[in-house]
Amino acid sequence: MSDHVHAFSTVVRERRSLRAFLPDPVPAAELAAIFDDAARAPSNCNTQPWVVHVVSGAKLEELRETLPGEFLAGRISMDFPYDGVYEGVYKSRQHAAAHALYNAMGIPREDKASRQQAFMRNFTFFDAPHVAFLFLPEPFGLREACDLGMFAQTLMLALTARGLGSCPQTALGFQADQLRAALAVDPSHKLMFGISFGFPDPEAAANQCVTERASVDDFVIFHG
Ligand SMILES: Cc1cc2nc3c(=O)[nH]c(=O)nc-3n(C[C@H](O)[C@H](O)[C@H](O)COP(=O)(O)O)c2cc1C
Repeated sequence: MSDHVHAFSTVVRERRSLRAFLPDPVPAAELAAIFDDAARAPSNCNTQPWVVHVVSGAKLEELRETLPGEFLAGRISMDFPYDGVYEGVYKSRQHAAAHALYNAMGIPREDKASRQQAFMRNFTFFDAPHVAFLFLPEPFGLREACDLGMFAQTLMLALTARGLGSCPQTALGFQADQLRAALAVDPSHKLMFGISFGFPDPEAAANQCVTERASVDDFVIFHG
């Protein structure tokens, strides 16, 4: 295996969703280099249909104060509501991922209160010093949403390659209207999800979670 392939494989496997961060901010020059790498993501006709709001410092603390209360009060405004139904193997995988996380955190299945508490940490960004909100400008749709996904994965790999960690969070799309208002975002920019990131806490129980994957034969059909 060439060094190049080895390095790639390592970064891909090192990236995991991490859900506990240290408070130290990432230096501004490093942030710029990370987003410069992420910008190399491919997109339909190179349209690069992503608008990214990175929030840190006092503004982030403001959101950490307000978002949990908004969620608990039931004030939900999703630009892209759930329209998929997880059944069969997809439901099993969803359950296995939840089991892996709560098992790592030592939370038993029946302990609903602790599960809810762990879930609520989504809205305080798992204590991360930064969050990137990924917006898709109107009138883009499903095709361009795929571009946004490619950008997100390139960004998360760029973070991993530098020893940083991240967690992509659909939960951060629950309050799209509130976030647009707080960050003065154009109303035509629709919020897909957020990614909390920073230096991961290596000791945290939540960060010991490792999820499984289906084997290649389960999802690739080779022809010819
Ligand atoms: C688009 C997207 C949205 C996600 N939303 C959440 C979320 O709201 N909260 C959370 O804790 N994890 C979230 N995850 C993380 C997934 O649970 C995780 O990627 C999956 O279990 C596989 O684990 P891994 O990322 O550690 O490989 C999300 C992942 C993706 C790609």
